[in-house]
Amino acid sequence: MARTLTITRPDDWHLHLRDGAMLKGILPETARDFARAIIMPNLVPPVVTAKHAAAYRNRIMAALPKGSDFQPLMTLYLTEETDPADVASAFTGGLITAVKLYPAGATTHSASGVKDFNRVMPVLEKMAEVGCTLCVHGEVTDPDIDIFDREAVFIDRILDPLRRRIPELRITMEHMTTKDAVDYIAAEENIAGSITTHHLIINRNHILVGGIKPHYYCLPVAKRELHRQALLAAATSGEAKYFLGTDSAPHTDPNKESACGCAGVFSATNTMPCLAHVYEAENALDKLESFASQNGPAHYRLPVNSGKIVLAKQDDPVTFPAKIETGEGSVTVFDPGFPIHWRVA
Ligand code: NCD
Ligand code: ZN
Repeated sequence: MARTLTITRPDDWHLHLRDGAMLKGILPETARDFARAIIMPNLVPPVVTAKHAAAYRNRIMAALPKGSDFQPLMTLYLTEETDPADVASAFTGGLITAVKLYPAGATTHSASGVKDFNRVMPVLEKMAEVGCTLCVHGEVTDPDIDIFDREAVFIDRILDPLRRRIPELRITMEHMTTKDAVDYIAAEENIAGSITTHHLIINRNHILVGGIKPHYYCLPVAKRELHRQALLAAATSGEAKYFLGTDSAPHTDPNKESACGCAGVFSATNTMPCLAHVYEAENALDKLESFASQNGPAHYRLPVNSGKIVLAKQDDPVTFPAKIETGEGSVTVFDPGFPIHWRVA
């Protein structure tokens, strides 16, 4: 049965593009379906100043396929040395869209992140004043806290106290993985949350049952099924608080398939078809546009895209590439574990 769904062209509110040959290899996968994406600053070394962000933006623009009108929305990596004036001018001048907070040591390339929140208060206060959003990797890093509890503990110990100190600061709780995060955001002002494609599809069993699956390992790590159900309910609710941030994070296959494999799921290639499948299964195709194309711009106070995409359903499963070949090596594409019959026409 043929069927199509036309929606406003979507945006990705959390994306890793890397640099160099990897950037060149994977950028077309996002630029094909998405109009804009928030670009994570966790390069080595990280993107910490406006000058770095401008140079990185130029490298992304240079790597774009010919004729693409994809727009990278740049971010700065918050460190204890970040200069409030540099952030403010980069934001008001339109160079950056947000600032990213990584608790030190939370994830890939986060060693320069924040240890002492008192030291970043002047930057956060300045951001609240100019209306710049703080994107948060919401996990504590204490070795004593179980990895499956790190998001919930972050909300109690770090996020909530921070919000009491600066209630006006606009925050994105990125790549939410728990019911705790969904519930916290629902009840609060000036905060919204992004949800990845893969966290709507996998739970922790997918990583661990029947042999370890390194391509499903990411941070925050997928939790138990009840949390996936809460994410699914939030994403398909149409509520303005929740929107798509794929956290598509490429690592080469040798770096994933290793005794100490890197965290990150690469889903840029098939995110929209996977989402169409998930939304259809939930009987919520009419809510896909708000999640992928409308709620994000509203939170970031940006216009909604003018273009459209058409999602088409076909009888035969769609074949997506299993891997994307890049100059740095191959990158495995997210496997949802079931056939997908949707494609972007
Ligand atoms: C990201 C990466 O590889 O840069 N990995 C991940 O598992 N999501 C870092 C991050 O966003 O936490
Ligand atoms: Zn990420």
